[in-house]
Amino acid sequence: MALGLLLLGLTLLGTLNIQAQGSVPSMMQVPPLNKFPLQPDFQEQQFQGKWFAIGLAQNIFRSKCLSQPAMHMATFVLKNDHTFNATYTRVSDKGCDHRSDPMVPSGQPGQFILGNTTRSENYTMRVLATDYTQSAILLYVFRLKDRVYFENMLYGRTLKLSPEMEMQYIEVAKSLGFSDDHIIITAPTAEGH
Ligand SMILES: *[C@@H]1O[C@H](CO)[C@@H](O)[C@H](O)[C@H]1NC(C)=O
Ligand SMILES: *[C@@H]1O[C@H](CO)[C@@H](O)[C@H](O)[C@H]1NC(C)=O
Ligand SMILES: *[C@@H]1O[C@H](CO)[C@@H](O)[C@H](O)[C@H]1NC(C)=O
Repeated sequence: MALGLLLLGLTLLGTLNIQAQGSVPSMMQVPPLNKFPLQPDFQEQQFQGKWFAIGLAQNIFRSKCLSQPAMHMATFVLKNDHTFNATYTRVSDKGCDHRSDPMVPSGQPGQFILGNTTRSENYTMRVLATDYTQSAILLYVFRLKDRVYFENMLYGRTLKLSPEMEMQYIEVAKSLGFSDDHIIITAPTAEGH
């Protein structure tokens, strides 16, 4: 997997460097999603379950709270119709909030679109790479109030991943045009939380 991610990073660097040149994250143009890699032979069953957000990069910060210590989790439960019930949970000292989104397979295996169009049109999730048992790198793209949100996530099955994995993720996020100050590596929250 480590090698797989490394290759992914290099591929992205090679194909997307035009975008990174002088791009301002808040105005970043998002290329069509099919320009990004996709986990080959995506296995929906194996992708299920709980993932911790280890790294996140966003072109527009959705929440000031992101810089505060909090644990972000995503749990994917597969339904009979191959839709994922995706539950996003945020746990901090101030409490816990969560929401559940129906994510419907869209186009290619490994790509999903939010089934609830009242929230956002074309809210798309794409699994760039995963080994199912340790880590996953995903993209989320959605439009809200005339702005395009673009997020790159590193998920781990555990609260912490190896420093090598984190460095590789940072390379991937940078190759997508994110600057350092838009890339956050979450530190595990204090014991007991
Ligand atoms: C999705 O999962 C959440 C959390 O487990 C649950 O509360 C909700 O009812 C589920 N929604 C659907 C449509 O299955
Ligand atoms: C769709 O999203 C809206 C706004 O967040 C929410 O109120 C509604 O319950 C959601 N519907 C379903 C079916 O998830
Ligand atoms: C959503 O996707 C469809 C099909 O790709 C496209 O026709 C439509 O313009 C998109 N809508 C938005 C708001 O991006």
